[in-house]
Amino acid sequence: MLHQNIRSAQIVGTGFYVPEKVLTNHDLTKIVETTDEWITTRTGIKERRIAHKDEMTSDMASKASLMAIKNAGLEPGDIDLIICATVTPDTVFPSTACWIQHKIGAKNAAVFDLQAACAGFIYGIETARNFIATGTYNNVLVIGADKLTSLLDWTDRNTCVLFGDGAAAIVMQPAKKGKRGVIKTTLAADGGYHDILNIPGGGCKMPISQELVDSRQHYIKMNGKETFKQAVTSMSQVAVDTLEKAGLKASDLAMVIPHQANNRIIDAVAQRLGVTDHRLIVNVHKYGNTSAASIGIALHEAVEEGRLKSGDLILMVAFGGGLTWGCTIIEW
Ligand code: ACO
Repeated sequence: MLHQNIRSAQIVGTGFYVPEKVLTNHDLTKIVETTDEWITTRTGIKERRIAHKDEMTSDMASKASLMAIKNAGLEPGDIDLIICATVTPDTVFPSTACWIQHKIGAKNAAVFDLQAACAGFIYGIETARNFIATGTYNNVLVIGADKLTSLLDWTDRNTCVLFGDGAAAIVMQPAKKGKRGVIKTTLAADGGYHDILNIPGGGCKMPISQELVDSRQHYIKMNGKETFKQAVTSMSQVAVDTLEKAGLKASDLAMVIPHQANNRIIDAVAQRLGVTDHRLIVNVHKYGNTSAASIGIALHEAVEEGRLKSGDLILMVAFGGGLTWGCTIIEW
């Protein structure tokens, strides 16, 4: 029977990287008409990291990847698949995963990019789990990395205060005997909301031209209120549904890591789940919204702080442009 060969997949190493340069809310008041008070009360963000102009998404991702590979007790040559979730590729093609493979020397890996905006890390975990489950690959590197500050309109206070740069990586392997690893994942999307959070220009629909640049269509556009509403609804629902499908209750969880976009979205999801205590991980004040990297950065920090022990159940839930969203529950 086919299902006899299905293997579970677990995370065996984590890594992260954020650029050195810190941009505080106070710094932003010199760029656009805003205040620390407005940004803090609406989002919880106090500062974010900004990559150097010569520091590409693949550079940040490579640093996070080497850390994850080392923490997994492996060498780059052991990796047989690299999945890079990003909306800010170094180049239109080749993929950022190709650049990373080259930079870290993972010459035995198949590679591709995955585009699910801020939900990319969850999509990446589930994609890796499937490749491991079927026995195709054994050492899969999943990366979430974005240099969103390169796509921000620094004259638009509605968006430029929200985002920062960073990268996170995990190594996934077949679960050891007696371990469940990834227990249940739900992935979802609604392309009908393509226009509430997007970059309209630069693709084949609106190729790069002087007119495009003059009209600033190559920058992130967002309907903040609608995005907020959809984020709260879909993240809450997918978390509740995934718990139910896994046959678990919120009280079984040792940790909840929501996408770090905004404190108010995180709080609303936490309320709905009934996990508003120390189990809720929040670091949005330090990094802003780092898109595909946000959940992985929070996971790595939790690991480094010794907040996870073997057997703990972690729920990770994300939401992004597309719209895309997803939730995964794993046993540590
Ligand atoms: N500083 C000061 N004022 C501002 C700023 C700013 N940085 N940005 C907007 N404003 C003004 C607007 O111009 C508007 O003014 P007006 O009423 O005179 O037109 C007013 O503030 C809007 O204020 P609120 O209604 O209080 O704003 P709201 O509560 O909707 O908060 C926010 C705005 C923070 C953007 C919120 O809508 C939000 O968080 N949305 C979701 C954003 C998000 O998380 N996006 C990414 C998710 S998916 C992903 O990660 C890719």
